[in-house]
Amino acid sequence: MINDRRPDNMVRITTPELADAFINEQLEALRAQIGDKKVLLALSGGVDSSVVAALLIKAVGQQLVCVHVNHGLLRKGEPEQVISVFRDRMKANLIYVDATDRFLDKLAGVTDPETKRKIIGGEFIEVFAEEAGKLDGIDFLAQGTIWPDILESEHGIKAHHNAGGLPDNMKFELVEPIKILFKDEVRVVGERLGLPANMVYRQPFPGPGLGVRCPGAITRDRLEAVRESDAILREEFAKNGLEGKVWQYFTVVPDFRSTGIKNGERSFEWPVIIRAVNTSDAMTAEVENIPFALMQHLVKRITSEVKGVNRVLYDFTPKPTGTIEYE
Ligand code: XMP
Repeated sequence: MINDRRPDNMVRITTPELADAFINEQLEALRAQIGDKKVLLALSGGVDSSVVAALLIKAVGQQLVCVHVNHGLLRKGEPEQVISVFRDRMKANLIYVDATDRFLDKLAGVTDPETKRKIIGGEFIEVFAEEAGKLDGIDFLAQGTIWPDILESEHGIKAHHNAGGLPDNMKFELVEPIKILFKDEVRVVGERLGLPANMVYRQPFPGPGLGVRCPGAITRDRLEAVRESDAILREEFAKNGLEGKVWQYFTVVPDFRSTGIKNGERSFEWPVIIRAVNTSDAMTAEVENIPFALMQHLVKRITSEVKGVNRVLYDFTPKPTGTIEYE
């Protein structure tokens, strides 16, 4: 480990050259720290864990074991992308666990948002610990801790250690190669490590995933409607130059139905709510002004392509009074 804390005079990493210098320093430090031992990493496919994975693959190759837990609440195409980027392209040692049924069975009938979050977080640690328990000779646990996480935990805003929660008999030494970086720097480094742009520049996505966008008790059919409508929204935002311009955008499928008409017949189906907001720090947020023609196109695609949906609504509420997510 070269630096445990971000040096006061550290130059912000904004160029490929600065990123390369950081990468080379880290590769050396990682090899010195890890030697010929094995490292475990929970790889979600988010920016931070992906950059840590890419660095470690370069530094120690097959000594890294990545575990990707699919909790069934990921966006369309996400687990597939993790497999294709890390296992197929980067030749990582990747264990893929499809724990969808386990999570959805535990969540069945649970309506309280905080209980849902606790179940998802607790189950995640359990699945990860189970996988770790099957492996022999792991000494290190890698984490995508970044500099704001450390600052926030020091100021008592939030606890940052993902490792917190693993059983006591699982004591690993931590490997945190991006812990002195700000988020924008992590992205520059990720690009230099060859990660796809849509992985490096992706919008924020909450740990409990689509679970918080399926308000109330999660059912498989409503979850599928969230996933499919989200995929259409992302596709249309990308096609229309809004990807990368709008901070966060997604769909929500509330737990009520309304009367409508489809193919000349009565339908009684869910609405899809579109949310698209801009913010700099997620403490407050403004609603994006989506062009009306695009809105009409989205309504047409979502109501015709997503099963069980007969209306599309647009959430005009800034934060405050709304939060960005619904739960
Ligand atoms: P809210 O809904 O509080 O969200 O306005 C602010 C930002 O935080 C994200 N968010 C989460 N991220 N785990 C996360 O990793 C969570 O449980 C969680 N809840 C909200 C949200 O997507 C938004 O970007």
